[in-house]
Amino acid sequence: MASAISLPMLRFAVDPVLQTKEDSDYVVTDKKIADITNEPVRVDFAFEQKDGWYKSNVTNTAWVFKDENGKIVALSPVCTHLGCMVDWNTNKKHPEQFYCPCHDGLYKKDGTNVEGTPPTRPLDVYPYKEVDGYLALGKAKPRGEA
Ligand code: FES
Repeated sequence: MASAISLPMLRFAVDPVLQTKEDSDYVVTDKKIADITNEPVRVDFAFEQKDGWYKSNVTNTAWVFKDENGKIVALSPVCTHLGCMVDWNTNKKHPEQFYCPCHDGLYKKDGTNVEGTPPTRPLDVYPYKEVDGYLALGKAKPRGEA
């Protein structure tokens, strides 16, 4: 009798941690796919994050644009050096690049790090999909894993 009661309770207790959330891992942003151009724009998006039983509201950001082939690119703004936020085209000495003001880190438009600056790897990339004409973003991953 004790095991009959404890197994369902154990499942209830463990389920939130073990749930697979493939579809829910994508957050639909307010950015229309049709409005994305070749110029990187900042897209902020918010979602509820669950960590075990703890829920919190998280706001995240992506730099989004279309590459020369028309493919959407969504880059994490988190500098791969020490985690500051990069900005697009804000350093007049290095136009058309992502710039990290913390230690003068630079990235090319495609997110690859510029040699000779502190970052040693490219910006992470968000996987994306289209949902009813809007951009939906997954969890940012190192380049090659996204
Ligand atoms: S944190 Fe970006 S260059 Fe150091």
